[in-house]
Amino acid sequence: MDTTRSLFLPPQGSTVASDVDALFGFIIWVSLFFFLVVTVATVYFSIKYKRKSGKGETTLYLESMALEITWTVIPTILLMIIFVWGFQDFIRLHIVPANSMEIKVTGQKWFWSFNYAEGATGVGELTVPVNQPVKLLMSSKDVIHSFFVPAFRIKMDVLPNRYTITWFEANMTGEFEIYCTEFCGKGHSEMWGTVKVLPKDEFTKWLEAGSGPGEGESMKEYGARMFVKNACNTCHSIDGSQNVGPTFQGLFGRREVMSDGTSITVDENYIRESILSPMAKQVTGYDPVMPTYQGILKDVDIDGLIAYIKSLEN
Ligand code: CUA
Repeated sequence: MDTTRSLFLPPQGSTVASDVDALFGFIIWVSLFFFLVVTVATVYFSIKYKRKSGKGETTLYLESMALEITWTVIPTILLMIIFVWGFQDFIRLHIVPANSMEIKVTGQKWFWSFNYAEGATGVGELTVPVNQPVKLLMSSKDVIHSFFVPAFRIKMDVLPNRYTITWFEANMTGEFEIYCTEFCGKGHSEMWGTVKVLPKDEFTKWLEAGSGPGEGESMKEYGARMFVKNACNTCHSIDGSQNVGPTFQGLFGRREVMSDGTSITVDENYIRESILSPMAKQVTGYDPVMPTYQGILKDVDIDGLIAYIKSLEN
């Protein structure tokens, strides 16, 4: 495990990171070397051969075979080194190891969610074991997003209507940032998340624990945690201020006018329906941008959110 941290790059948190950095470093230093050679030569020759009063003209060179060969062969060799080196890393980044654990990744405006084969889910937080290859099977519910973990040196577009795949093996525990690197609307800059890399036994415990309130945690407190964890706070305020969606302050029991002109009183069933089928009954005056949480939130999570919303009185 290499824990040295470079001045410009994030920690090398995955098995491919040091190789990606090595090639990146090679390209940077080669480029810098030739940049200096060209710049210094240009300045030197500009001064040395500056035209002075028509006298002392330099010899006219029409062609030089030696020069032509030199500046063809050296760049060709350098580019071939970069190509072969890069191609090997490219292949490695694209062939998923057979013993990988698979996690389904969903991108949508504007958060990431993660589904595990064992039934666990995560929103905005991807929990994985250390020293274990992880395959990410990714798709989007709306527009193109891009899944980027700088510390792992992986980045892959996430598209609607088709799957893309990437993989990584974390080689150190800790928390690393996830970014969306495809402009996907006004919440794009907030579409970040965290990869939490745990020791294997802790990860197994996490997987088994699943969801539901922790010990001594009330449903209201659990709901408050879910409110942040599931990024509801990106669009809904709890202090009455206007946002992408209606505020949750005083929401429970409020009489709301729907986009079709009918009105309803917000109760448990309306909240549940709005979380799972947001387009069914929409409050008038808001854009239809609420994503469905079908398959992401469990019943216990929705119960918690309802308890939390109930507690947010005017
Ligand atoms: Cu999703 Cu930018």
